[in-house]
Amino acid sequence: MKEIVPPAIVRNQFESVRELFSKNVVPSYGRFDLAFSHGAGSYLFDVAGRKYLDLGAGIAVCCLGHAHPAIIEALIEQSKKLIHVSNLYFTEPQGRLAAGLVKRIGAGKVFFCNSGAEANEGLFKVARKFGHDEGRFEILTATNSFHGRTLAGIAATGQDKIKKGFEPMMPGFRHVPFNDLSAMRAAISPATIAIMIEGVQGEGGVTPATPEYLLGLRALCDEKKLLLFMDSVQCGHFRTGKFQSFQRILENVPGGEKFLPDGISMAKSLGGGFPIGAFWVRAPFADLLGPGTHASTFGGTPLACAVALKIFEVIEREKLDENARKLGDWMLNELQRLGKNYPSVVKNARGLGFMLGLELAEKIPAFAASDKSAAIQFTNRLHAAGVLVIPAGTQVIRLLPPLNLKPQEAGEGISKIEEVVKSLA
Ligand SMILES: Cc1ncc(COP(=O)(O)O)c(C=O)c1O
Repeated sequence: MKEIVPPAIVRNQFESVRELFSKNVVPSYGRFDLAFSHGAGSYLFDVAGRKYLDLGAGIAVCCLGHAHPAIIEALIEQSKKLIHVSNLYFTEPQGRLAAGLVKRIGAGKVFFCNSGAEANEGLFKVARKFGHDEGRFEILTATNSFHGRTLAGIAATGQDKIKKGFEPMMPGFRHVPFNDLSAMRAAISPATIAIMIEGVQGEGGVTPATPEYLLGLRALCDEKKLLLFMDSVQCGHFRTGKFQSFQRILENVPGGEKFLPDGISMAKSLGGGFPIGAFWVRAPFADLLGPGTHASTFGGTPLACAVALKIFEVIEREKLDENARKLGDWMLNELQRLGKNYPSVVKNARGLGFMLGLELAEKIPAFAASDKSAAIQFTNRLHAAGVLVIPAGTQVIRLLPPLNLKPQEAGEGISKIEEVVKSLA
């Protein structure tokens, strides 16, 4: 690898990087005391050269790990040809990527954007358009859901802490307990036009939807003429062992093979670290957003689409969906074993494939002295052990590793997590 030497001010000096941030960057993130300079495969290296096993993958983004040669090649080759043209014109990579998504989901069409929040915004506009002439506009989402940080995103998100300070909320969203079909039925009003859920709630603490819930929501939406949307930004793109989480949740479930939502939002792993988002809309609704109704300058550039197409190629060639399922199942088993062996530290473990959550026990004595949440304190200890994970809420840590994680890396992660758990027991 050709070394990219950073300017002297940031070389090996965490403090000087932090100072650049404290003086110049809007402090909207609670950041950990780590500054990274480069990565390779499942590992990241901080500015002092210390190595970390990355089981967070940039919050489910770096699906092929860091500095993957196929992504580098796609970036170089496509950027020599064409990086960007306006969506006033056609480009082949965008058309091919849309076809790839339609092939893997079902009959419909795709709109490209840049992020998960923007993909959800697009689906909200599809719903508004669909219900407009009848005066229906309301979208029901789940308690503890997460749908992004734009104004519509925070209105859609079922967590008060995300909304606080930004009131009044954009109208037209209400929240209903997750995995509770009768609560959803009861919440539908004459103004309701759509329901949006995550197949596996991520930020809310790694909670998969049940098969009964998914099939029940489909039937409910058909009965009440509502659109069923799935926010697949975090749980999609093979993370659960299938392209879409509902394909995994409903496999071998009678009637599951016929299930399709009406819209799916995607981002994160779609570009493996290169920004790209998208939403898919099922065929009957695919032309609702006609010319002039929706747009995004950078949506679906040839460069982003070339990277996304290359990622599909690598995942399928190397059967990384199966890797996520097999290794993920093994890791889940191991995390559940920790729950059995150390109940004073680990309450339980759950998840599907490479979307795993470890729920910490309520009162871990070693954490009592600090006002930081258990999830943050546990994550800090893992950082000290050389492993990166992502907190979810106050009690859960998430493992969202790259889809090409190797068995020995999974083993290394589990034994370091066990060391930290043991030290707290
Ligand atoms: C389920 C879900 N939806 C939407 C988003 C927002 O995506 P972005 O940060 O790309 O806007 C996220 C981000 O974590 C997410 O997990």
